[in-house]
Amino acid sequence: MKTLSSLKLETVCQLKEVQIEEAALDAQLLITHVLEINPVDYAIEGDLLIDDKSLTEIQRLVDLRLSRMPMSQIFGDKEFWSLNFKVTKDTLTPRPDSETLIEACLKEINNPKAKLRILDMGTGTGCLLLTLLSEFPNAKGLGTDISEKALSVAKENAKNLSLLKRADFQISNWTKNLADQDKFDIIISNPPYIGLVEKESLSPEVRDHEPDTALFSGPEGLNDYRLIADQVFTHLKPDGLIIIEVGHTQADNVKEIFISSGFNNITVYKDLGHRNRCLVIRQ
Ligand SMILES: C[S@@+](CC[C@H](N)C(=O)[O-])C[C@H]1O[C@@H](n2cnc3c(N)ncnc32)[C@H](O)[C@@H]1O
Repeated sequence: MKTLSSLKLETVCQLKEVQIEEAALDAQLLITHVLEINPVDYAIEGDLLIDDKSLTEIQRLVDLRLSRMPMSQIFGDKEFWSLNFKVTKDTLTPRPDSETLIEACLKEINNPKAKLRILDMGTGTGCLLLTLLSEFPNAKGLGTDISEKALSVAKENAKNLSLLKRADFQISNWTKNLADQDKFDIIISNPPYIGLVEKESLSPEVRDHEPDTALFSGPEGLNDYRLIADQVFTHLKPDGLIIIEVGHTQADNVKEIFISSGFNNITVYKDLGHRNRCLVIRQ
C-alpha cells in the first residue's frame, strides 16, 4: 500500500530521470487510467491509499513509458479530429498537424453532401480516410498501405467508427496495385517524409517505437513524393484533388516535384503553428 501523493512523487521522479519532458502529465494520465479517477481527485486526494494490485499495474505502465514507448501505444489509442483511433506499433500515431489536410479538404470541397470517391494512400490507422468519410456522409473510400498489419488496424478503426460499409482497404505499393480505371475525386496522403540523415536526431518515442516504413523516405525524405507524383495522375478524375502532407521545410521541394510531373495548380496550407504543412494540387 502507498498513498497517492507518494506514488505521484515517485512516478514523476522516475519519468524525469529518463528526461521525459511531460513527466507530470504522463504520470497523471498513467495513474488516473489505472485507478479510474478524474483529474480533480488526482489533484486533491493525496491521502488516498493505493492497493498493491493497482500499484503493480501502474508500475507496469510506467516501465513501458520508461522504455520511451509513446503514450498512444501504451493506451492503444489516439484522438484525431475528435474521433478515437486504435494505434499499435505497426501504425504511425495520428498527429494534430495532419488535421491540416482535413481542414484543407473541407475548405476546397465546401459541400458536405458531395458524393466523393476518396483514395487515402499510406492509410496507417485510417485516420485521414475515416475522418473524411465521417465529414462527407455520401462519400466512399479506399485506404491503401504497404503494411498488412497497418491495414488490419485501419479496418478495425473503420468498424469501430461504423464506417466499414463505405470504406474498403487494399494492400498497395502507392498506386501500383490499383487498376488503371480506378479513379478518385480526392487522393489524400501523408507519406513518409523524414530524411534518413535526421534519424539520430529523432526522439526515442518516434525513432525506436514507430515503424520505419511510416517515417523514412530516402536521404532527404523526398523519395516517396517522387514516386507518388509519377503515379498519381492516372487515378485522378478530371476535376480531382490531390491533398498531400509535407514536412514543414519541404513545401517548395515537393511543389517542384509535382510541377515536374505536369501539375501546375498548387496551393499551400499552413498548420496551427503557421508552418507549411499541406499541398492541394489540381490538374
Ligand atoms: C506517415 S504514415 C501516415 C499514416 C496515416 N495516413 C496518418 O496520417 O497518420 C505513412 C504510411 O505510408 C505507408 N507506406 C510507406 N511506404 C508505402 C508505399 N510504398 N506504398 C503504400 N504505403 C506506404 C506506411 O506503412 C504508413 O502507414
